[in-house]
Amino acid sequence: MTKPIEFIRPEQRPAWSQLQALAHSPSLHLPALLADPHRNTALCIDGAGLTLDATHQRVDRSVIQALQQLAEQSHLPAHIEALFAGADVNVTEYRPALHVALRGSELATPPWGPEVSRQVGHELTRFLAFADRARAGQWLGYQGQPITDVVNLGIGGSDLGPRMASHALATLAGGASPVRVHFVSNVDANAMSQVLAPLSPGRTAFVVQSKTLTTQETLLLAKTARRWLSDGGCPASALAQHLVAVTARPELALTQGFDPAQTFLFWDWVGGRYSVWSAIGLPLALAIGSTEFRRFLQGARDMDAHFLSAPFAQNLPMMMALLGVWNGNFLGASSVNIAPYAYALSQFVPFVQQLDMESNGKSTHVDGTPVQIQTGPLVWGGLGINGQHAYYQLIHQGRHLVPVEFIGVREGADPLPGADEHHRLALDNLRAQARAMALGRDASQTQAALAAEGLTQAQAQALLPHRTFEGNNPSSTLWLPRMDAPSLGALVALYEHKVFCQSVVWGINPFDQWGVELGKTMLRQIAPPR
Ligand code: F6P
Repeated sequence: MTKPIEFIRPEQRPAWSQLQALAHSPSLHLPALLADPHRNTALCIDGAGLTLDATHQRVDRSVIQALQQLAEQSHLPAHIEALFAGADVNVTEYRPALHVALRGSELATPPWGPEVSRQVGHELTRFLAFADRARAGQWLGYQGQPITDVVNLGIGGSDLGPRMASHALATLAGGASPVRVHFVSNVDANAMSQVLAPLSPGRTAFVVQSKTLTTQETLLLAKTARRWLSDGGCPASALAQHLVAVTARPELALTQGFDPAQTFLFWDWVGGRYSVWSAIGLPLALAIGSTEFRRFLQGARDMDAHFLSAPFAQNLPMMMALLGVWNGNFLGASSVNIAPYAYALSQFVPFVQQLDMESNGKSTHVDGTPVQIQTGPLVWGGLGINGQHAYYQLIHQGRHLVPVEFIGVREGADPLPGADEHHRLALDNLRAQARAMALGRDASQTQAALAAEGLTQAQAQALLPHRTFEGNNPSSTLWLPRMDAPSLGALVALYEHKVFCQSVVWGINPFDQWGVELGKTMLRQIAPPR
C-alpha cells in the first residue's frame, strides 16, 4: 500500500521562487542560447523511439536544474509510483487510474498486481479476437453478409482516441482494410446521415461506446442507428447482431438490448480520456487488426518503461511537463499550440485537448484548497502547415507568448509518386518555423532585408516596426521515426504522462471531471430524459 504523499502548495516550494527569479534573467535569449552546442546536445533527448528537441526552449542549465528540483519538491517520483501501483490517485472518486495496466508491462510482476493483469488480458483477448473475426468476414449481418462498415457512436474519450488512432494508422492496413471504420460523435442528425448515406444496413454495424451508458448524445445516436437498421429491413430479432457495446456498465448494456457476447468491458479505474488502450480501442483494432494493435500497446509500454527509468533531464514526459510549467507559470504563457507536420496526425490536437484540458482544467488543489497559480493551459493548434497560413501571424507578431510543440515524422511513407518531395517540404517548413520563432529578425537585419527588396530608405524606415520580429518564442520538436503503431503508442503515452506530471506539480487531480456535470444537470432540467 503506498503511503500518503505530503502536499505543499506549489508556490511555497523553494524551487518555485528560484524559478521566478530565473524567469527575469536577460541571458535567456534564444539567439544566444542556441549558439551553445553543448547546451543544444544536452537538450536533445531520446526515449521509446521518439526524440525531444528542446533546444528552442528558453532554458539553460540553471533553469533545468531548478525545474528538476521543483519536480522533486513536488514528490513526483512518489506520485508516479502510486499511479503505477494502483493507489487511489483519483482522490475525489476514490479510485485508481490504471490506464498504464491496459498496455501491460515488461515486468514479471507489474506493480498493479496479478488480478488487474488477468482482467485486462482477458478482455484484450476477447475484443482483439472479435476484431480479427470481423476482418476475416465472420461478423455476419441479418442477410448473412459479412459486415464491411462499422460506425463508432461515442463522444469525448469514447470517440477521440480511437478516431485519432484509426485516422493515423488506417493506411497501415496496406491499402483497403476489410472493415471500414467510421465515427459519429455529434448529436446533429447531419453528422449521422452523412456517414450512413453510402452504407447498406445489411453490411453495417454499430459500436456504441460509453463508459457510463448514460451520455444522452450517444444514446440518441444508438436509438437512431437501431431505427436505420430496422427501416433498412433488419428484423428486431437480428438487431443485436449489428450492435456492439463497449462500457463499464455491462448490466446497462444488457437492459439496452446488447448481446453479452458483443459487449466489451473496461473499468471504473480507466478514465475515458485515457481509455484508447482498452476495448474503447475496438474501432482501431477493426481498422488495423490485432497484431498492429498489440504493437500500438507495445509503443506505450516502451514509453512507460522510459518514463519509469530515465533520469529527469533525459526523461521525455518529465521534461515536456516541466518545460510546460516553466512556459506557463514563469514565462507567462496561457496556452500551448500543438503543431503536427504529418497529415496522419490531423486528429491528434482534438484528442490532446480533451486529455489535457479535461485533466488539468482545475482550480482546487488535492487538499481542497483553492489554487492560486495557473494550472492547465489552453491547448490549441492543428496541422502546422495549415496553421502557417491561418494563425502563425499571431504567434510571430501578436501580443501573446505562445509556446509551440511541433511534431515531425522523419520517414515519409506515402506511396504517391513524388511523395518524398512533399514530405521534405513539410519538414523543412517545421524547421524554418521553429527557427523563425526563436531567432526573430531585429531592426538591423530587417533594414538589410528591406533594402534587398529594393525599398527606399524612407519606405524601409516606415515599414521597419511592422517587419521586425521579436523572436524568442519557445518551441519543442518531437520527432517520430515513422508513422506506425509503436510510434503512435509511444506518442500518446508520452502526452498522458506529461499531463500527469504537470498535475502533480500543480497539486491537482487530473482524473476527475466534475466541471462537466453542471451542464448535464441543466440539460436534464431543460429536457428531462424521455
Ligand atoms: O462529459 C465528459 C465525459 O464524461 C468525458 O470524460 C467522457 O469521455 C465523455 O463524457 C463520454 O462519456 P461516456 O463514455 O460515459 O459516454
